[in-house]
Amino acid sequence: MVVRDAVRWGATHGVMRLAIRARARSGNADAEVLRDPAVREDPYGHYERLRTDAPFAGGAFAKVSVHHEVCTDVLRSDAFGQIGGNRADGLPAVLRAALRLAGPRRSVGPIDPPSMLAVDPPEHTRYRRLVSRAFSARAVARLRERTAEIAGELLDALERDAGPGGRVDLVARYASLLPVTVISEVLGVPVGMREQFLAWGDGATPSLDIGVDWRTHREVERNLAELDAWFRGHLADLRRSPGEDLLSALVLAADEDADEDGDGLTDRELLATAALVFGAGFETTVNLIGNGAALLFGHPEQRRLLAEDPSLWPNAVDEVLRIDAPVQRTGRRARHDTTVHGVAVGEGELVLLVLGGANRDPRVFADPTAFDVTRPNARDHVSFSSGIHFCLGAALARMEGEVALRALFERFPDLAPAGPAHRRPTIILRGFESMPVSLGRRAGR
Ligand code: HEM
Repeated sequence: MVVRDAVRWGATHGVMRLAIRARARSGNADAEVLRDPAVREDPYGHYERLRTDAPFAGGAFAKVSVHHEVCTDVLRSDAFGQIGGNRADGLPAVLRAALRLAGPRRSVGPIDPPSMLAVDPPEHTRYRRLVSRAFSARAVARLRERTAEIAGELLDALERDAGPGGRVDLVARYASLLPVTVISEVLGVPVGMREQFLAWGDGATPSLDIGVDWRTHREVERNLAELDAWFRGHLADLRRSPGEDLLSALVLAADEDADEDGDGLTDRELLATAALVFGAGFETTVNLIGNGAALLFGHPEQRRLLAEDPSLWPNAVDEVLRIDAPVQRTGRRARHDTTVHGVAVGEGELVLLVLGGANRDPRVFADPTAFDVTRPNARDHVSFSSGIHFCLGAALARMEGEVALRALFERFPDLAPAGPAHRRPTIILRGFESMPVSLGRRAGR
């Protein structure tokens, strides 16, 4: 097992690490972001080095774009598909053969088929259709009140459990717990396990990254396998005795569909869909809340505007998403030879789309580095991607971000940092893993 795993790691991440290191040594801005955690603390200056008049810059190992128009055009284009199972396609024949020998891994990863994030139509349409209604704007509106209750309960607990001087870790005690509680309730998984889900989720998120080291890779595999085993058991229980929740509906829909037109989900597809919606439901929004708190700490004048006019909160959340995207980049592979803004892209070629850079494109956003909660077109960011893979949970994430940040800053008007916050080490997901704060007085007291 370990040998197979080592072959898989070596042929993908290991080879990538070598390529990235070599490119970083020659001063490639994209490779420096991927390679150096210190650069990753603030990658935005590096993105500007990739912003030339050309649609693409030469990245660490593929064409890369920080242009808003190029990113949206590629994401909406039929000529491009998900990287999906073809991640090995660009590798030399010997490495492809090694990967074939190692065989597929048993657990399902969030960006490996049959995750909906990793496949093209018609499979993508089939998987997405089964879950999309639960996350529509109307369904999310119905969750707002309960989300506000959860925020209130967590804030009560913060006050109760805070250490001397009202000190707490905002990420561990609030930003991470709110989304995992909401998505657990939506899916009907036991909320009492939320700390365990967070631990598995945090351990598995580097699986999205490129060129991770062997130790991290092993940790990712262990966490994915444990989450996977738990989910398999849970779905089997639901099949035997379904409840009123979304996962039970998904289990039934998968079976019914299979009866009617052979269009249902296999067990692996069901597992991948359930695990993706669950994981994506909390591993991203935590970063929206953390990034938002940090931005508001750094911009007291914007915080004042929100206190004076709370109707600005929804726009403020989009501005947070724009200026510090929780998902920094994605990629697509050309399905056939094509041209993007005059640049030829060959069949099978990978292109990388830096969402965090596109969000600061001066051709779309005036004074793009300014954090401005009144920005009229803040919502034009691409932090939720674009095209057919546009984030399924965008409405839920926006609502959670708004409810969570507003409740927090309204309850504790003097909330302030109480020591250095630490960024997560991940490349694609950007957020904080810890943020010590002091609560200060409670509003109205
Ligand atoms: C601030 C929070 C969030 C951000 C920044 C975010 C970002 C993204 C991005 C960038 C993609 C598309 C990636 C690509 O095009 O390759 C995506 C897809 C997805 N997101 Fe989110 N997401 C967030 C919250 C959520 C939540 C709360 C859910 C829960 C339902 C969710 C579920 C999904 C799913 C299922 C997909 C795959 C959609 C598809 O392939 O059709 N996300 N998200």
